[in-house]
This record gives sequence, structure tokens and C-alpha cells, in this order.
Amino acid sequence: MRKWWQDIIIYQVYLRSFQDGNGDGIGDLPGLISRLDHIKTLGADTVWVSPHYDSPMDDNGYDIRDFHKVSPDYGSLDDFRRLVAEAHKRGMKIIIDMVLNHTSDEHPWFQAAKDPTHPEHGHFRDFYIWQEPKWEKGERKRPTNWTGFFGNPTWTYNELMDEYYLHIFSKKMPDLNWRNKAVRKAMKKVLRFWIDIGVDGFRLDAANHLEKNWDFPDASPGYEHFSSLPKHHEYLQELGEEIFEPHDLVIIGESGGASTKEALQYAGFDSEEFDMLIHFGHCWADTDSKNTLTPGKWAKGEIDVPKIKKSFARWHEALQGKGWNAIYWHNHDHPRIVSHYGDDARYWKESAKMLALTLYLLPGTPIVYYGEEIGMTNVDYERLEDFRDVEVFTEYENFRANGSSHEVAMQALRDRSRDNARSPMQWNGDKHAGFSQTTPWMPVNKNHVHINVKDQLEKEESLLKVYQRLLSERRKEDVAHGDVTFFGLEHPETFNYLLRAKTCDYLVLANFKETPLEMEFPIDPSGFRLFLYTSDRKRAEKKATSFGPYEARMYKRKR
Ligand code: NOJ
Repeated sequence: MRKWWQDIIIYQVYLRSFQDGNGDGIGDLPGLISRLDHIKTLGADTVWVSPHYDSPMDDNGYDIRDFHKVSPDYGSLDDFRRLVAEAHKRGMKIIIDMVLNHTSDEHPWFQAAKDPTHPEHGHFRDFYIWQEPKWEKGERKRPTNWTGFFGNPTWTYNELMDEYYLHIFSKKMPDLNWRNKAVRKAMKKVLRFWIDIGVDGFRLDAANHLEKNWDFPDASPGYEHFSSLPKHHEYLQELGEEIFEPHDLVIIGESGGASTKEALQYAGFDSEEFDMLIHFGHCWADTDSKNTLTPGKWAKGEIDVPKIKKSFARWHEALQGKGWNAIYWHNHDHPRIVSHYGDDARYWKESAKMLALTLYLLPGTPIVYYGEEIGMTNVDYERLEDFRDVEVFTEYENFRANGSSHEVAMQALRDRSRDNARSPMQWNGDKHAGFSQTTPWMPVNKNHVHINVKDQLEKEESLLKVYQRLLSERRKEDVAHGDVTFFGLEHPETFNYLLRAKTCDYLVLANFKETPLEMEFPIDPSGFRLFLYTSDRKRAEKKATSFGPYEARMYKRKR
């Protein structure tokens, strides 16, 4: 049976950077409300809002201090209610980010848990995961040598308890103990609170880390001991049965590193866990495994186009007819897509359009990340102090300890850090880019003078206009339910596919790289006419087989 969430188009808002409504330099709910029409005009109808809860902002709100309160940075509960009402009035939906895996260390639960003299310590101690120190040669050691996702050890010692607590993110984000029934009960209460206010769904943060290996073996980095362990499905099923299904919500689970094998368990039509998941399969297809100075995602390498295509193809195949897929290029945890897989200098416009064409005619539910529609780029931060992300500072130290120079470390941060995708939305070319009247919480990208919404609304050939056309085409032709055939998955430069939609077929042909190339039509081109393109029409028509740098075309054929 067709579900309402299969037909939505999601726009992800990083609240802190979208629109300041009260002049304090920080994006907020009133600001977002004032921009709902931009989202609607773009062609999206659902907003995923990054965490809006009360928080000390160690990780920009993914560290929640009070699940029932809106951060004063963002407004009030009334503002939130107004957001829901204003969205619904426009026929739009609101999805909120929900963090199940951890809280802030300033959350009252943790305050009680970490202090044996606290009157509620007995109840809250086991809300978190505590382990005694290991002792080696009279020296106190962490229970395991695991490394967390921000590059830091996963255990922090607490003197009052004389024990360590587990945190797979920053030390200000202690992990909840999902084996404890009281935790599950408390989190269900939180979910119900927001459902009663009227949200339409949740994006579940870090949703495949709820279970840990309680044998706590040593391993480095040790992700396998706190990711995708079988028991976490039990917790998700419990939530699904009791909370998600009865309310007909849309549930998007963030499950970094999840396998396609697990896909149906998460997002199969008969699964009660998620409706779709975010897996990052195609997101880091350009790492250099030989780089030991700034390793992992920080090691920028050659883009492996087949890897990107195969990830889309694999996930499509795994879920086709049996579950549902989400499609997206990136989010607030990645560099800006045009800087990452395209070219943010000479071929900025071509490559940004190419990325739009290659993604948005694929089946599934699309997620557009704020600023992507105007081709916002990475930010050329000059000094370490320009960065804001908690992860950056630990990793900078790690890079230096690995032997990299300040410059090499800075370049890795500039290329890959999450802050690239968190700079203020570029509404216009004015001083603070129309984001705020005052100095924003993080620097506006200098290129806002020529990359901004206002300018692109005025130009017929702009990227924004391409997004509008693509999204409206998608909706009209029911592309979400289309049937895709990929061509040349092994080809190192092309990104080609055919999408059979409701009444027509779309043929997307793209050169994913800068070097010009010749390519034949992978199928008989008769009946197809050129519909969207990144270079000029005449050239594309005259030299149908030759593709310039990042050139992409979309042909359409009525059936
Ligand atoms: C995943 C979120 O997307 C990321 O931004 C955050 O830092 C971690 N989960 C921790 O909540």
C-alpha cells in the first residue's frame, strides 16, 4: 500500500544557520517560519529540522539537556507550535531530529547518575553505561581502548563514582543504556510529547548504536562493538510497535555503515523500525587509504565514481519492491557536495547542476540539504578559531600527533570538516547574507556576494531554477515510484541511467569529471528530446556524443 511519506520531498534545515529571526546572530524557529515559503517554492513539502531542544550546544544541540524544552537560542515551545501550524497550513510536514543514543552530561538524568549522593542516584545510575577502571601496573586505565566518532577515547573517568562512563561521541554526550527498561520508558514519553504537539515524523539520530557489546573487549577503533549489533533492532521494534506505527509517522533512521543486508530489517515494508534510512553508502567515495597523517574521512583522494554509482544501485536493488529508499547527496556531517564531488571554482555551476541531475531523477524520497539548491560551497576557514565543530579540535590534535604540520592539518579540516556545511544560509549579497542583522554565530561564506538565493531567483538559468524544475518534474511524473536502470557502473567518469516514470522516460547522461569525454547513448535515443542540461542547448544538440567538463543532460521521452 502506498504511504504518504513515499511522495514527500524533504528539505533539511540546520536550524542554527538557516535564518535568524531575532537578531542575535543565531538561526531560530521564527526565522525558519519566515522562510517556509522558500522551501515550498523550491518544491519541497517536508522540513527536517535539526535538534531544537535545550542544550549546552557542545555538538550544536545533538547533546540534549532537556528533551521537553526548546533551546532559548531557537525560541519557545509556542514558536515550535507555530512552526507546526504554519507548516500544516501550507500543506507541509515537520520532521524533528530525535537523539535516542545519548543525552548531554548536563541532563538531570546524568547529573543524578554521576553523583552517588544525589537523592535519585539509585534510579538514574543505570540510565548510562558505567564500567570500572582497568588497572595495569598500578595505573588506572580505561575499560577499553575504543575510539569514538569524534576521534576521542570513548570513556571518561568520573571521580565520584570511581568509574568510567561510555560516550561514543564527545565526553559531554554520555550514552544511554538501552538495556534498561526505564530508559526505554523515558524515551517513549519524550517521543509522545512531540507527537502530541503535532510533529509528522522523526529523524532518529545515531539509531544503530543503541546496543553495545557489554563484554567490552579491546579493539581499535572498535566501532563493531557499538554499531549495528543485533539487539538494537529489538529496541527499534519496540518503539515501532508502540509509538511509530500507531501514529502513522515517517521515521528516518540514521544508520551509518549499515549494510544492505540489514536494509529490510530496518526499512522493509513489513518492518516497524524505520520507513527509510540514511546509510552514507555513497558519501565518502574519495578517501586515500595511504594517508596516515589525516586518515579516514579526512584523507582526501581521487573520487571513485563507480563506487558512488554502485552504492545507489545496490541500495535501490536491496529495497526495490520490498522497502523504501531515501536519496540525498549530503547533510550537516559532510562537506558541501559541490566542493566534495564537484568543482567549487571554475566549473561550479556546471558541476552543481550535474550533481542535481544525477540525483533527483532517482526513485525514493529525496532529501535536499539547505543551501544545496543554490550551490553553497565549502568555507575557506583561515584559522583554527574560525571552526566551531567539537570534532574539529580533537582531530586537529590527532593530526598533529600523527606528525602532520599545522598547514596539512588545517587543509584536511578545510576540505572535510562538518563546519563546511553549517555556515549561514546565503539569502542575498548583503553584509550578513540576509541571514541576520548582526555578526552570525559562525562566519558567512565570502562568496555569498555572488552565490545567493536572491540572485538565483532572478536568473532563468540558475541552479535554483534547475532544482525547481527537477523537483516539480519529479512530483508530476511520480519519479519516486519509477523504475531505474543504471548504465556503465564500472565506467570511471560517467553517471548514466534511465528512469521509467508514470507517462515518460528520462535518460540522464553525465560526465562526473572535469576531463571532457565522448559517450554514445547507452540505448536507442529515438523519441528522446533534450529537457535539462548544464551547458548550452545548441552545443548539446549539435555534439550529442561529446561531453564537456561536468556536463550533464537529461532527455525526456513520452511513452
Ligand atoms: C549524528 C548527527 O548527524 C551528528 O551531527 C551528531 O554529531 C551525532 N549523530 C551525535 O549526535
